[in-house]
Amino acid sequence: MDAVGPGALRGNTVPGCPQRDLPCPSDSSELVQECLQKFKVTGAQLRQIQASLLASMEQALKGQASSTSAVRMLPTYVGSTPHGTEQGDFVVLELGATGASLRVLWVTLTGTAEVGMEPQSQEFVIPQEVMLGPGEQLFDFASRCLSEFLDTLPLGKQGLRLGFNFSFPCHQTGLDRSTLISWTKGFKCSGVEGQDVVQMLRDAIQRQGAYSIDVVAVVNDTVGTMMGCEPGVGPCEIGLIVDTGTNACYMEEARYVAVLDEDRGRVCVSVEWGSFSDDQALGPVLTTFDHALDHQSLNPGAQRFEKMIGGLYLGELVRLVLAHLAEHGVLFGGCTSSTLLSQGSILLQHVAEMESSPAGAACAQAVLQDLGLSVGASDAKLVQQVCVAVCTRAAQLCAAALAAVLSRLQHSREQQTLQIAVATGGGVFEQLPRYWEHTPVSKSRFLSILQDTVMLLAPECDVSFIPSVDGGGRGVAMVTAVAARLAAHRRLLEETLAPFRLSREQLAAVQTQMREAMAKGLRGEASSLRMLPTYVRATPDGSERGNFLALDLGGTNFRVLLVRVAAGGVQITNQVYSIPECVAQGSGQQLFDHIVDCIVDFQQKQGLSGQSLPLGFTFSFPCKQVGLDQGILLNWTKGFKASGCEGQDVVCLLREAIGRRQAVELNVVAIVNDTVGTMMSCGYEDPRCEVGLIVGTGTNACYMEELQNVAGVAGDSGHMCINMEWGAFGDDGSLDMFSTCFDARVDQASINPGKQRFEKMISGMYLGEIVRHVLLHLTSLGVLFRGQQTQRLQTRDIFKTKFLSEIESDSLALRQVRAILEDLGLPLTTDDALMVLEVCQAVSQRAAQLCGAGVAAVVEKIRENRGLEELSVSVGVDGTLYKLHPHFSTLVAATVQELAPRCVVTFLQSEDGSGKGAALVTAVACRLAQQTHV
Ligand code: G6P
Ligand code: BGC
Ligand code: BGC
Repeated sequence: MDAVGPGALRGNTVPGCPQRDLPCPSDSSELVQECLQKFKVTGAQLRQIQASLLASMEQALKGQASSTSAVRMLPTYVGSTPHGTEQGDFVVLELGATGASLRVLWVTLTGTAEVGMEPQSQEFVIPQEVMLGPGEQLFDFASRCLSEFLDTLPLGKQGLRLGFNFSFPCHQTGLDRSTLISWTKGFKCSGVEGQDVVQMLRDAIQRQGAYSIDVVAVVNDTVGTMMGCEPGVGPCEIGLIVDTGTNACYMEEARYVAVLDEDRGRVCVSVEWGSFSDDQALGPVLTTFDHALDHQSLNPGAQRFEKMIGGLYLGELVRLVLAHLAEHGVLFGGCTSSTLLSQGSILLQHVAEMESSPAGAACAQAVLQDLGLSVGASDAKLVQQVCVAVCTRAAQLCAAALAAVLSRLQHSREQQTLQIAVATGGGVFEQLPRYWEHTPVSKSRFLSILQDTVMLLAPECDVSFIPSVDGGGRGVAMVTAVAARLAAHRRLLEETLAPFRLSREQLAAVQTQMREAMAKGLRGEASSLRMLPTYVRATPDGSERGNFLALDLGGTNFRVLLVRVAAGGVQITNQVYSIPECVAQGSGQQLFDHIVDCIVDFQQKQGLSGQSLPLGFTFSFPCKQVGLDQGILLNWTKGFKASGCEGQDVVCLLREAIGRRQAVELNVVAIVNDTVGTMMSCGYEDPRCEVGLIVGTGTNACYMEELQNVAGVAGDSGHMCINMEWGAFGDDGSLDMFSTCFDARVDQASINPGKQRFEKMISGMYLGEIVRHVLLHLTSLGVLFRGQQTQRLQTRDIFKTKFLSEIESDSLALRQVRAILEDLGLPLTTDDALMVLEVCQAVSQRAAQLCGAGVAAVVEKIRENRGLEELSVSVGVDGTLYKLHPHFSTLVAATVQELAPRCVVTFLQSEDGSGKGAALVTAVACRLAQQTHV
């Protein structure tokens, strides 16, 4: 008996009858049994396939797919099964589900589960040369079919929304972004693999130009089938297709899908089990006929599992067996025909007809005669057995794969027993005979074998099979409706955030305006930048020595510091004290008495009581200084509003408070702004540090200006540090074109409306509030939190600026974003979390860029002051926002580089805060005072 290898199978391809004797009957039935036996799959083999497929699924979920022959486990960005509220009219284009045909549907979703409108549809046969030709041709063909179908409907030509049912393995990166991995099922168009098929369809529709159609979503046919599950019986959580090809999808726990940075909820995963071909599991069940079929297929070596189950291949398997048996004289009297020897001549529908009983044998007769074969009495029966063997194996293998998915669901849901609904679709379910001896119910034989085998392999799973009503068209429309809603939300989000996205030109305009305001301020003209002289004329030269007390008021914390400046460096001991809001917004006397209380407490703790150390006072508010130790408070900022201080010399106020406290003696030598303190503190380490920058609760900058440029201060040589008070930049309306309605809301609700406009777009006290107002706006548009306004989110200051730093930190996955927001009592979806992240990014990016534009204005001023081609300068920086936000400092530096390319700017984060700087200013003052007394 000849071997039955592929070589053998090809046999003599010359159609006709044999020149030698036919085998004797016993040999022939043995040969027949041998053939049929090959399609028998044992329970053990099915379990092996189930286990191996499950292992391959779990590896791929972890992103460790072993080889191209593993299953792919492709996330589909469908995060929830339909909740029936989807509504609207949608066009659905189906390509690849049913072989050489393309279908266009018009689906109306009514938004009520009960009322379903029957979709209208039209099918188009795809010519072979289009299935194998250039990709553009295929997509042009599809868009022509689209127009042809739409022309039959009373529709406008604009604003149509389309869901693209594309049944091939694709890497999706969004609901409307999908790259084809490889063609399957008789398609092999060039120039498409590795391309975004949505873009190719959009381009084709554009080229055709008949309709303006928005391709909103691309969906795999298994997903469409699952999502189209009959309302009321679902939700189905598995979609199973056995049509020309085969595949399944199911709702996996998002946290198990490694490529998705997600920990909550579920996501639909397309298994793509067609590519499963683990030699160990499949090797024993692959027959020579399977190898021959694969060898002559369009994609040899690929989709091996599919080629044993898919409707495109069942007929071919039957043909190869029949040809083999005929060539071995067992069938058709050993005669073959050119049709029998031609690939693809036996179709699924032939197998369906021949397999059905009792009419199958008669059908077989007719089908085989059409194939030009003379059919003997027993031939038809034998052929039927071959059809049954091939289809039974297909159903069993499909069941083993489905059982693997069920086991995966048991694992991921940690459930021992599982009750689940599987939506089924595809010609193999629909075409194969509806009943067989003992099953009068109209259920396909394929389905009943599938069901029985699943029960065998996954006995703890109670599985109901729900045939899809319209091949998944409605399911695709559901996904499209969800995608359309998300796309609309994205558009609203972009529109809302667009004003926060400042262009290079806009930032350069801010820089120019700041330069103009600086020049006016220095000349003492009306300007939103007060450009306050600080009477600090030099940065430290390292010769400073002594012990100093320092106070640091105006940031997040009030600190009292003991600063020891010695040859070996600076030593700092400090204590943080709180300034309760009632004190910050009480009377000035109360505030300064509180300050002195803290000083006394600190002195006692440090054993300094009774000592009168020189004291430097970092007072981080706008003060008009008339001397190093005289500072008239111009106005409070940052939530301070203590009465009786504005217009007063705060050093006097401090001295009066000291006076009110018995037995306390303090020698207040200097009052400095925190920007100056920061510059001095960093300048002690790096003499090139001539700019001080604070981005914390508030924001501001200072820098060393040429004395000759400072109106109102005597002298025209040397330098003086200027406190810009840039927080007030734009209070004259010069920044209004950059201000958004959200900034206006924050300003109106602040205790100093109309003031500190630049600060209110940049600093820590306000960014959280800007974000909160944007979130409220997006919620009111229904974009966020399903439009549900929560009491918490309407609470002022509930969205802390530190949340921005936490939410935007790369190390924080979306899961933590969710945790932060849920603490705020916000019920949110993944999409919500993503959008909140984008809002935070837009608000903080604008803040950093505006801050960068300000620094660029300052360093360019210094460069031009010195008539330098290139300036190298350092900027001392402090402030919680700058220090803690994951990207703020980088964005500031990038903006400065872009807007001041001729300045090499080094940003030095101040380690010890400006208290040290205040002590150094005091030390310099003491040194200078000593020199004048020597
Ligand atoms: C440091 C400085 C303070 C400054 C503060 C600003 O702590 O020592 O002088 O006011 O930074 O940042 P913050 O985030 O605290 O407002
Ligand atoms: C494709 C799958 C598809 C299946 C059923 C396979 O060839 O790779 O994406 O779901 O056929 O149509
Ligand atoms: C104040 C500045 C201070 C800045 C940073 C602003 O509100 O007006 O004086 O430098 O905050 O703390």
